[in-house]
Order: sequence, then structure tokens, then C-alpha cells
Amino acid sequence: MVRISSSLLGPSPRCRHVSVAAFVTVACFHMTVSAALALQRATIATASSIRGAAPSNSAFTLSLTRFRRRAAANGPLSRLFASDGGGGRSSAAVTDPNLASKTTGKSSQKNKKLDTNPPKGTRDFYPDDMLLRNYLFEKFRQAANSHGFREYDAPVLESEDLYVRKAGEDVSAQLYGFEDKGGRRVSLRPEMTPSLARMVMAGGKGIVMPLKWFSIPQCWRYERMTRGRRREHYQWNVDIWGIAGVEAEAELLATMVGLFESLGITAEDVGIRINSRGVIKEVLAGFDVPEEKFAATCVLVDKLDKMPIDAIQGDMEALGLARSVVENLTSVLTDASLDSMSSVLGPDSEALTDLRRLFALAEAYGITEWLAFDASVVRGLAYYTGTVFEAFDRKGELRAIAGGGRYDRLLETFGGESTPACGFGFGDAVIVELMKERGVLPSVEGQSVVDVVVFALNDELYGGAVKAAREIRKQGMSVDVVLEKKKMKWAFKHADRLGAKHVVVVAPDEWERGEVSIKDLTKGEQILVKVEKLEEWCHTVKGV
Ligand code: HAM
Repeated sequence: MVRISSSLLGPSPRCRHVSVAAFVTVACFHMTVSAALALQRATIATASSIRGAAPSNSAFTLSLTRFRRRAAANGPLSRLFASDGGGGRSSAAVTDPNLASKTTGKSSQKNKKLDTNPPKGTRDFYPDDMLLRNYLFEKFRQAANSHGFREYDAPVLESEDLYVRKAGEDVSAQLYGFEDKGGRRVSLRPEMTPSLARMVMAGGKGIVMPLKWFSIPQCWRYERMTRGRRREHYQWNVDIWGIAGVEAEAELLATMVGLFESLGITAEDVGIRINSRGVIKEVLAGFDVPEEKFAATCVLVDKLDKMPIDAIQGDMEALGLARSVVENLTSVLTDASLDSMSSVLGPDSEALTDLRRLFALAEAYGITEWLAFDASVVRGLAYYTGTVFEAFDRKGELRAIAGGGRYDRLLETFGGESTPACGFGFGDAVIVELMKERGVLPSVEGQSVVDVVVFALNDELYGGAVKAAREIRKQGMSVDVVLEKKKMKWAFKHADRLGAKHVVVVAPDEWERGEVSIKDLTKGEQILVKVEKLEEWCHTVKGV
């Protein structure tokens, strides 16, 4: 490697006129560009913060990205004051029977402009949004891996039967279901748990229990949209099968807390309410209510804080529960502590014994400050049989952040053997809202994925640029080759935009000597490096 000193900039051979002098010019230009970009970033940041004051419809679709898109499409004034509108409208893009004639170019009619919004309730993920999504998914993976869970996946399209349950729960009513071309009823998955159950059942004896698996599926629910609640969302699913004791629940809760901590969320921000459906079961048993009414009763109880109590009580009576049972249930569920619940269910209550053990385990895990018993938590899915839990923001402004519980009999409903199982689902939308509010969302703006930009000074040298790029990529660095004929100053501006730290210039005379010029954009230094020494240069840059 040769470091170019100022003495080298004196009377010079031709190559220096071409490359070195150009570097100096570009360096000055580069500073101007940096200043301009810094100003642009500041403007965008101001715009983002103005927009950040309003609740965003899209958790991940950053205001910044939309701002940039609009800024490109609209006039300068509308850039700063454009309203969010977010979330997309129903797409007007329909099959066009005249498409063929339109694409031949023979039609004199102007093509109808495509509605560029994604379908209502869904999101586009532009590159900055993807950086953030990948950040969160990486945290999901780390928290799951550090607790010994293995990742799995399943198709987003499943047989509709998998989701049709009789208890009248919301998720079964919100299916994106349709008939495929073979006449089969299919549906986009609204949740992952039934697919997991299907996979466990299909795996049969080949599946080694206990099983600890996680997944990050995209789920689809045709539901009314509110803040943090969309028609598609990604849901981190963490499940344990084959463990009947609350040791499984404790491990799940510790995994969830591990994630919160890794995101910078504390027990002051978030709490996890815990209950057991066993409590309701024991109350119903005390009144001789048949077991088959249990799941439907739980689904109705879950609606207590969402619908008028009279309507719920009416539905319960329609289900065959006596008025006295309905009133007793309602009063039991508003009871506050494990001890007062004990006086209702007696000292032998299995549900309460389990809950006590769970809280004792939580102490060993060091997560007690996150947890609280809450008899009103029932959860809206019909298949839960035991412990249920829900993570919520303590300010009470957002929907549930995550929810889960024990579902020992789900496999039985599919004609399989009942198998102990429990788990939780944790959406991507609400947590991002919370992170934004708490100021712990990492800044991805301008985050670089490119280390080096390689630029050939003329067409004949393009092959050389590719060769240099190949050498650098072999060392695990990210390289962007300038693919078209461009001026040197464009290449530097491009490198600045990408956040690259180095620009490699392939110039005629240097290349003839088997060298390339490398400019360090941070230090402003410039060196010549032999192509066969690029590997060494990479090690120096990476500090290895
Ligand atoms: P869930 O309560 O329906 O449970 O959903 C779990 C989490 O997914 C919610 O707490 C929320 O964070 C997120 N979520 C659900 N619907 C939406 C939506 N429309 N928009 C944004 N986020 C949403 C289940 O799905 C269970 N299968 C979880 C489970 C796994 N139980 C056992 N294992």
C-alpha cells in the first residue's frame, strides 16, 4: 500500500492528472455534498418529528419513508405539510380486459394511473422500514435462541377448516378465506398456532418432546383497524409442547421479558397480567355447568370490557347458563388477589395452586416485577385451557402487546391425542408504537449497508472495477460497483448517500501498474493499493 503524501501532488505523470487531481476536486465537492445532505437530513428529521406527533397508522412504515416518497412526488410546500393518510386505501387495481391492446401502444387512450396504495390495512416495507423490521426480528430470534427455541415456518395459506371453531371467537370470523381453483376452501392464516398443531400432528412420533419452537409468521385478519391493529401483522410465536407443568409458562414468560429488556423496554413500561381459565372452569363446575360450554363462555367473558354487560349476560344465558351463574362469574372475575380468589374456590383449587407455583418460579427467573395476577384476563381464543396471560403497556394507551396461554386440547379438536402445549403470540405493530413513545426505537435513517463504492474512470476499466469489487467482497465487505457511465463527483455523492466509508477508483495508469486508488471518506486520506494487496487492505480496514 502506498500512502499518497502532498509531495506526490506536484508535477505529475498523466495518471495523477486523471485520478489524484480529480480526487482533490471531488474531496472539496464531497464536503459540499456532505453539508447539503446533513441539511437535508435535518429537514427530514424536522418533518419526521412533526409527523411523529400524530399517531401513525403504520407501525413500521416510517413517516420518513413516506415523506421521501411524497417529497419526490409533490411540490416543495406539500413535502412538509403532507398529512399522513396512511394505511392505504382499497386498491382500485383490477384486472383490465383491455390490457393487451393498451400494452401494444396502439391505443390512443392514456392508461389509467395505478392506485399505488397497498390494500387497506397492509403495509409496504421500503428499505428503511426493512432495516427496522429486521432489527426487531433479530431481537425476536436472539431472545428465542437464548432460551433454547428452534425456528420453524409453515405456509401462509392453509385449509380453512383449521381455523373454523364453534365458540364464536373473533379470529374465526375474520378469515381471509376463499375457494382455490381446485374448489378447496382455503384461508390466509390469521394466527400460527393451528399450523403448529397440524405440523406436530403430521410429525407424529418423529417429533421429540418436549418441543420448544418459535416462528415469525405474517398473519392476516380482516378486522376493524385501530392503532397498532392491522389486517396483516407479523407475530412472533413462541411455544412449548409436551410439558404439563407451569415450568413451561415460566420459561415462556422469561423469554418474553428477555425480549422486552433487549429492546430497552422496562417493567415500568410494560406489565404482564396472568390468570388461569381453570378459575372459570372451577366456578362453572361448582354450578354444574357442562364442560362443553367452557370454551364459548370464556370467549364471551373476554368480551366483557368490549361490549355492554347486558348483551354479554344475554349471550351467556342463550348459551344455557343460569342468571345466578352469570352473575357469580362476573363477580369472581373482578376479584383482585390470589388470596381472595382462594376464599371463593377453596384451598384445593388446582388452578390457584398452579398460579402460585408460577409466581414462585417467576421469582427464581427474576421477572416478578413484570407480572401480576388479574382474574379478568381470559383471552379471546377458544382453545385455551389453563394459564392465560397478556402483556400490556402500563399507560393503558395501546392494545395488548402480546398474549398467550395453555392449550392442552387443541390437538384433540383436530382428531389427535390431547398433548400439553402452551405459547404466546407477540405482534410487531404495538411494540413498535411503544418503542417510538419510549424513545427506544433505533434510528435507521441513513444506516449504511455498503462499505465500499468501486468506480471505473472509463468503460475499458469497468472489468477492472468488477475484479477489484470481487476481491473486496471475498473478504466479507459490502461493495457497490457504479454500474453506469458516471462522473467522478457523482460516484462520491453516491458513496455519501449510501454511507460508504471508502471509494475505490480504477484509473488508467494505476490500473496499468496493477493498482487502484482508495479514498477514505471519513479521514479524507487517499492511498494506492495493489490489487493483490486488497485482501490485506480489507483486513486493515476491518481491524482484523
Ligand atoms: P392473539 O392474542 O390473537 O393470539 O394475538 C397475539 C398478538 O398478536 C396480540 O397480542 C397482538 O400483539 C398481535 N396481533 C393480533 N392481531 C393483530 C392485528 N390485527 N394487528 C396487529 N397485531 C395483532 C394468538 O394469535 C395466539 N395464536 C397466540 C398463541 C401462540 N397462543 C399460543 N401460542
